Amino acid sequence: MDIFKIEGPVKLNGKIAVSGSKNAALPIMAAALLAKGTSVIKGVPDLADIAVMRRLTKSLGANVRRKNNGDISIDATNVDNPVGDYNIVRKMRASICILGPLVARCGKAVVSMPGGCAIGDRPVDIHLRGLRELGAEIHLENGNIVATAKDGLIGKSIFLGGPFGSTVLGTANILMAATLAKGKTIIESAACEPEITDLANFLNKMGAKITGIGSPRLTIEGVEELNPVEYKVIGDRIEAGTFMAAAAITGGKLELTNCCLDDMVAVVDRLQNIGVKVEGTEGGCIVSCNGTAVKPADITTQPYPGFPTDLQAQFMALLALADGNSVITEKIFPDRFMHVAEMNRMAAGLRKEGATVIIAGVDKLVAAPVMASDLRASAALVLAAMAAEGTTIINRVYHIDRGYERIEEKLNAVGAKIYREQV
Ligand code: EPU
Repeated sequence: MDIFKIEGPVKLNGKIAVSGSKNAALPIMAAALLAKGTSVIKGVPDLADIAVMRRLTKSLGANVRRKNNGDISIDATNVDNPVGDYNIVRKMRASICILGPLVARCGKAVVSMPGGCAIGDRPVDIHLRGLRELGAEIHLENGNIVATAKDGLIGKSIFLGGPFGSTVLGTANILMAATLAKGKTIIESAACEPEITDLANFLNKMGAKITGIGSPRLTIEGVEELNPVEYKVIGDRIEAGTFMAAAAITGGKLELTNCCLDDMVAVVDRLQNIGVKVEGTEGGCIVSCNGTAVKPADITTQPYPGFPTDLQAQFMALLALADGNSVITEKIFPDRFMHVAEMNRMAAGLRKEGATVIIAGVDKLVAAPVMASDLRASAALVLAAMAAEGTTIINRVYHIDRGYERIEEKLNAVGAKIYREQV
């Protein structure tokens, strides 16, 4: 198992190229299953989660490979196995996004029901409700979701809202399924995340007829078939936001490329509010902080365009060193606070009250051995460690490898001191 040894404090300075978006690439790889022939997806990051999706799509009959230039090619001519292997699916919750494409393409899908995870309960009831509305028959068998639509799916007006607002992968699943349904589907309360926009653009390039892209009402006119295409995924706004927080917490200056500030309005707003400078450049931005403590802030996570839950932990690390008290409230995954106790081991002044954390800004963080619990929590610990005095040891960094491409290489190139060791 790998660990990180991180020496701090450091001040980051330099340029980082943001990788392609993990959360856009995963559903897009699943969507490639909808068309016979070979789709080529560019800009797919080299991550553990992507490797899982490669294995999964391959196990369904697709011919999937990463070319020498980094592109992923998916030949989905022979998708003849509608069963997602439990041993692959259980490794990644996003595996659920093969459900919609398989039902639409094969008339059947068997995918294991996801269990709980480190960020809390993550039900898929809305995915199933949406597919049922499109005419699929769904039952549970041996822990598997079994969905069938022998005579194909039929378009319908569907409300996809849930107790915490819209659902990203639920929208992805129904959107993908509806592209091949007979007639018109309207998804109300669709997720508006840029990753859904990217998926919809990919599907339209394949020949789907989707309008209302980027809004909470998506209209899909079903088509008979889709065609394979070449497509480049968007830059990863969560990786970009993590590096923005890294520049700020170390009092440094980073130029980021392959990052779209228009997709990060809430994040930029919070950064500017606490005294961090963010300037747009052609295809990226420059983030700088003058080295003094940031101002405190009040952050509430919300569906897009609100502040993303996937940056909540990283901004908690940043605000731990703010000049005053901050408050962060989690409105998407109310239990996504595994990092709180770990950061307190580094002398952060965090107090959790339900789905809110009160952050008493401290003058300094101190190094400690800590445990990574999930992907974004691990990123937050890396940020805290770069600002802390001493050598922090982060255990279980496989969590970070799921979603950050070569993070230590990228950060070390701009001044970090992160060493990967095997224990
Ligand atoms: N929800 C339901 N029922 C459902 C689906 C969702 O109640 O059927 C609830 C969830 O429990 C949660 C809320 O709706 O309270 C939103 O969850 P959502 O479905 O949007 O999450 P997701 O699609 O499973 C994606 C990202 C997550 C990100 C969330 C929220 C991917 C692969 N995953 O998950 O990313 O946190 O949207 O933005 O796109 C990460 O990258 O670290 C990560 C966890």
